[in-house]
Amino acid sequence: MTEQTVNSQDLLAAAPTRNQALLAWVAKVANLTRPAAIYWCDGSQQEYDRLCAEMVAQGTLIPLNQEKRPGSFLARSDISDVARVEERTFICTESKDDAGPTNNWMAPSEAHAVLDSLFDGCMAGRTMYVIPFSMGPLGSDISHIGVEITDSPYVVASMRIMTRMGGKVLDLLGETGDFVPCLHSVGKPLAEGDSDVAWPCNAETKYICHFPETREIVSYGSGYGGNALLGKKCFALRIASSMAREEGWLAEHMLILGLTSPAGVKKYVAAAFPSACGKTNLAMLVPPAALSDWKVTTIGDDIAWIKVDGEGKLRAINPEAGYFGVAPGTSERTNPNAMASMARDCIFTNVALTADGDVWWEGLTDSPPDGLTDWQGNPWSKESGKPAAHPNARFTAAAINCPSLDPEWDNPQGVPLSAFLFGGRRAGTIPLVVESFDWTHGVYMAATMGSETTAAAAGKVGQVRRDPMAMLPFCGYNMGDYFAHWLSFADSGAVDLPPIYCVNWFRVDADGKFLWPGFGDNLRVLKWIFERTESGAEAGGTGTPLGIVPAFENIDLTGLDKVDAERFARLVDIDPTLWRRELEDQAAFLARFGEQLPPELAAWQKFIAESF
Ligand code: OXD
Ligand code: MN
Repeated sequence: MTEQTVNSQDLLAAAPTRNQALLAWVAKVANLTRPAAIYWCDGSQQEYDRLCAEMVAQGTLIPLNQEKRPGSFLARSDISDVARVEERTFICTESKDDAGPTNNWMAPSEAHAVLDSLFDGCMAGRTMYVIPFSMGPLGSDISHIGVEITDSPYVVASMRIMTRMGGKVLDLLGETGDFVPCLHSVGKPLAEGDSDVAWPCNAETKYICHFPETREIVSYGSGYGGNALLGKKCFALRIASSMAREEGWLAEHMLILGLTSPAGVKKYVAAAFPSACGKTNLAMLVPPAALSDWKVTTIGDDIAWIKVDGEGKLRAINPEAGYFGVAPGTSERTNPNAMASMARDCIFTNVALTADGDVWWEGLTDSPPDGLTDWQGNPWSKESGKPAAHPNARFTAAAINCPSLDPEWDNPQGVPLSAFLFGGRRAGTIPLVVESFDWTHGVYMAATMGSETTAAAAGKVGQVRRDPMAMLPFCGYNMGDYFAHWLSFADSGAVDLPPIYCVNWFRVDADGKFLWPGFGDNLRVLKWIFERTESGAEAGGTGTPLGIVPAFENIDLTGLDKVDAERFARLVDIDPTLWRRELEDQAAFLARFGEQLPPELAAWQKFIAESF
């Protein structure tokens, strides 16, 4: 092992910054992890190309067919490192109560002690990369700066696609600017010689730790996106949600899309869905032929940071600059804009490789091509009964590659929001769409939302996993306090609060078949919402115990003959038997928050229960 102590004077001379806090942190980490070299990322194309070439030589990246997929690569991860690891993800606050009943907790001193010993010498023989990045447009009042230290070139390349990164961020940081330190290592190799493997990680020990009180992130042992690209879930959701609570804004697991009517009126909506409910598809929706005079444009597909502007309007940015999307199920039919986004300059992880050097995954085409290599690098045949691509295989593509990208996506002012949508997979309870009575009721609906487990997921089929605001795995503090924070926006009366809607694209008939076509046809629901938010509410709706639901004639179903009045009735039906059970389940879930549950939510629970 190379013993190396970083002399702060040497570091100062070589570093492209005079930010004292950053220099001190980099020196401290280098002294602990003892890398072979320190490299400051400038974010240039040359740097990206060089790192990719090095990863090709090392076997971490496989270049794809340059004619079919120019500038693109395939990475295959270790089998132990294919997804976020919720059971190894910790919120480290002095008091356990501040992490709340839905997070794993560790005391900060205990976490630091464990991490310090794991990081001790863990970068020996590797390069330590320093990645300055901005979450959000450079210089925006809604944006924040982070710096990630990592020993993974895959992380550097992915961060260049997913964030605004490099020297321009250091310029903005200046000598005294604040940043969130994000420390990452793939971890010590398990055995001698393992440091040369194509996908280094620690197959046994993983810790993804967040310190909201000191605004720090430390992640050890995993190279997978959600655990290693620390700008995304760790900073932009877990740490930022806690910053947002302290500073009066919102950091949410939401897509942001623009909706332009045939008359040229444009509105923006933000929408939260649990993972794998089609957020990227909705963000990049292509309207059905009968409504092709409507236009959907994409600001972001996963995260929204929302602040109140001087006029009391909520304005949102997408803190990211790219998409880290799930590949399986993505096709020209389900999401042509995502397909175009990954046509070039894309890093694929754990997809299958075709005989001619292109990529494939389940759902891309009706039948698989011959001669596939599976995500682990083995010849694949249909008879194996196993998927060729890992079900969580990903594409990492730049926002600027997306044909539906909204012209305002990089606007430092953000975009004004006209509605919030919350949705999950529910076979029978939640109507296709329902408008809340007011903000507090909307927060109740969002706090009790959930998704039913499908056959593909672990757990009993049809069991509801409550996922408030789709933030269950991502809220960096006690979720009871998080609900109170959402409610507090109504307190001053000075915020122009957008209406809140619940949507459900996943209702099924008695045979388990979907009643609603989904995908592009979801525009019909967006259109109703758009019209409801017009002054004077142009589109009608009917009052129900759950909120306002459209009648058959209120939704534009032109060209969608299969959704007749009878089917539509089933899409918006509210079954009292199911709802009595649902409300009991909601009450049991909310009871987990004990004294931290805001009384307004308990009051709404009681009020709705009395209607059934
Ligand atoms: C994601 C997730 O990767 O929500 O976006 O899991
Ligand atoms: Mn997500």
